[in-house]
Amino acid sequence: MPDQKDKISFFKEYLAVATPYKGGKAMNEIKTKKDKIYKLSSNENPIGASPKALEAIKNNLDNLHIYPDRTDKRLQKALQHFYNDAIDAEQFIGASSGSEIIDHIARAFVGEGLEVIVSNPAFSPYIMFSSWLGTKVVDVPLLDPDYSLDVKGILNAITDRTRLIFLTSPNNPTGTHISKDELDQLFGELPEHVIVVLDEVYYHFADAEDYTTAMPYVQKGYNVIAVNSFSKTYGLAAMRIGYGYTTRKIADYIHQICKPFLIDTLSLEAGIAALSDQEFIGKTVAVVKEGRDFLYKEMDRLGVHYWKSQGNFILIKPTIPTDEFEDQMLMEGVMVRPVAGFGAPGCVRITVGTMEANLACVEALETIYKEQK
Ligand SMILES: Cc1ncc(COP(=O)(O)O)c(C=O)c1O
Repeated sequence: MPDQKDKISFFKEYLAVATPYKGGKAMNEIKTKKDKIYKLSSNENPIGASPKALEAIKNNLDNLHIYPDRTDKRLQKALQHFYNDAIDAEQFIGASSGSEIIDHIARAFVGEGLEVIVSNPAFSPYIMFSSWLGTKVVDVPLLDPDYSLDVKGILNAITDRTRLIFLTSPNNPTGTHISKDELDQLFGELPEHVIVVLDEVYYHFADAEDYTTAMPYVQKGYNVIAVNSFSKTYGLAAMRIGYGYTTRKIADYIHQICKPFLIDTLSLEAGIAALSDQEFIGKTVAVVKEGRDFLYKEMDRLGVHYWKSQGNFILIKPTIPTDEFEDQMLMEGVMVRPVAGFGAPGCVRITVGTMEANLACVEALETIYKEQK
């Protein structure tokens, strides 16, 4: 046995698990008095998947013994067409989910000795993936009480070691968006060694007048990478497909570390087909907006504390501890998501569902809030 004091460990210190990941409840752990559970916990599409994508999947089931495309070229072309030639095909980066794009970006740009900035409450993978590489994560929290972006705070937090600023608009879990003016201010003062990652996976649901995607900033050549997913509006969460877009220089750099055959055939075909399914996209957005307005009205009536949302979900602050609230909602047949892990302790995120699910949600809220009066 070597002497303990000379022992070299093969474990990376920064990978020591500080807080074990707490997943959702398994179906057999759920206690409910209802026959049906409405899953409003993962921001999934309330009306299913794009029919055009489903057709494409069926048409490709006989090809599963053949390797998929080696690269994302066909997805790039489809995206160029979808965005009406706003940028070149080579500026898109296809991947096996929005999460995978975030991982690509982290692997490409950060690691030990470098820093990223996040603004909690935020989607937790920004922190997870950066930390897995030994990166220091600096939090510049969203501002009280409306969760607006602290642009000045972010600019002040930038050091020579900062490489990425993770922003989300509409933001998960708050549902808030970053205005065009705020982005203009940030890009106006952004040092050259820093890239803004603008995650816009919920962009279809945004209708605020001052909302903007990353596209105009990419077109102007700023250091920005947009993150997108097929999991939400296209209803393909189970397929794992997403994409990013950025300047040609950054896209070429990230493409160097994209694994060959990364996107499986069914996901690729489904994604390409879904992009042209305007009817389904329109229907999804209409259902979400109608559901959002309905839930606001009912939450106002019940005195639920919530934040207005530009996404397909609403953040609320229940009057009881969130674990208790989650259990009581489940008892009433509705699965929701406490988001302390996203930096919003005491809050719960509720996905907008079909009108049937929204009614069940309101009924559950009514029971819980009545009991507290
Ligand atoms: C803000 C945000 N970004 C990215 C993703 C990743 O989406 P996916 O990995 O399913 O493509 C999600 C998923 O919930 C999200 O909420």
